[in-house]
Amino acid sequence: MRWHYLGHAMWLLELGSDRTRILFDPLLTDVHDAGLSTLVPTREVMRERLAPDFIIVSHRHPDHFDVDSLAWLAAADPQTVVLTSDPMVAQVCGKLGFRSVSVLGAWDRVELEGGALLTTPSYGSSVEWGVAAMSVDGLVWNHIDSVLGSPEQIQRSLEVLRGASGQAVHLHLARWCPVLEVAPQLGGRLGFPRGSYGQLLDGLALLGREEPTALAPAAVSVVPRAPFDGLGRNTFPVTLRRFRRDLEALAPEIQQLDVGVGDVVCVHQGSVTLEERASPLAKAVEASALPLFVPFEVVELTDPQPSVQACERREEPLREIREWLENRLVPRLRELSCGAPPWQLPLVLCLDLRSCEPCGSDDGDCSTPGSLDSGVQGWTLTLGAAGCGIRAGLDADYDQLVAVTLSGLTGVLSGRSSWGELLLSGQLRCSDRAFRVCEGELRRVAWLPALFVYACPGYEESFEAATWGRVAELLDAGSRMS
Ligand SMILES: [Fe+2]
Repeated sequence: MRWHYLGHAMWLLELGSDRTRILFDPLLTDVHDAGLSTLVPTREVMRERLAPDFIIVSHRHPDHFDVDSLAWLAAADPQTVVLTSDPMVAQVCGKLGFRSVSVLGAWDRVELEGGALLTTPSYGSSVEWGVAAMSVDGLVWNHIDSVLGSPEQIQRSLEVLRGASGQAVHLHLARWCPVLEVAPQLGGRLGFPRGSYGQLLDGLALLGREEPTALAPAAVSVVPRAPFDGLGRNTFPVTLRRFRRDLEALAPEIQQLDVGVGDVVCVHQGSVTLEERASPLAKAVEASALPLFVPFEVVELTDPQPSVQACERREEPLREIREWLENRLVPRLRELSCGAPPWQLPLVLCLDLRSCEPCGSDDGDCSTPGSLDSGVQGWTLTLGAAGCGIRAGLDADYDQLVAVTLSGLTGVLSGRSSWGELLLSGQLRCSDRAFRVCEGELRRVAWLPALFVYACPGYEESFEAATWGRVAELLDAGSRMS
């Protein structure tokens, strides 16, 4: 079998003597996720040459599930069979025109001419899996973004794979870096995450201790784009060179491969070889590296919309936001808090709204743009047993403080953007102190969403709305072209 590396988590596998073509997590352009993210190194994908028989969409994260890429592939060949872990991804693929779409769970097997695919479980919180591919050539386990789990869970997965294919795993395609893309936004720890990196290394080393194997690092290539690129300085705590050195020290028996975009990894009779720049399907354009890890400061939260424009348009969005707070968010929070034990209330929730940043500093006009709370950029909700009060300003003793840009929030409320987009671009941040002493210990208020604004719309709900919006745009553009 031949694995063409096309960048990030995108691979094209040619399997069996019939060379069945299986495309993993297609991302045809570097820039993706509503223009917020891109890939390093930059690359060119020869999309006309991909011609997949199968497309795998491992999970719904935007760097794996790219609606624009799937729309192009569906138009190119609607007969391509799509396999995914996520029913919503399946629905979208059907809508984009793919005739055959299947949702698979963990340990589902797909028989192919001259080989098979087997999905592998993920022990994290997302709906996702990894995929093992097997043929007479060998057995390859593409972890994708799946969480391999405890040593016992890893050993169990290897056992099942051995049982299913009658051979050891010859090659692992592995995520190699703990990516801290939202830690600063959530008031999390800055700096080198010794614990999670140690765990990741131990897990990968165990793969080599169980059986002789090779490993190719992959799926860590997404960086934020300007004007949010500064966030990248907090995101990648380990360089590839450092990872290689550490894994070599821990598990010298693992054959490490240095796979670049456009290389082909060939697995034949159980031996693994690398053919550099042998793929006609993609090539690296610019050998840019991941951003240097400088976890000393967090970029300031500012609205990316030009100040003047944002100021002129401020009055209307502010009214909408106030309306959302009073008529949608508060009623939903009250619903969620129903039956909350008395020790959890009252709860103080603050929304800090960041609009055009020099507001009011240059010309006094701008600081009071006729808003409902003139000059105020934030509100405090006090949720008690009897009701919810809203007042202007931020309470120093908040339980949760959520900061968000004005244009970002209006994007989510209108269904154009998702909370996830805002979080990844640093336009949404949270400091959570929703803890109370109960029965002698500090406990979190369990019913409160991770960010209280997720009460309405929900995190996934906002993602689905924005995704369906993009699907409608693409279908509309497609039908106007034809
Ligand atoms: Fe992911």
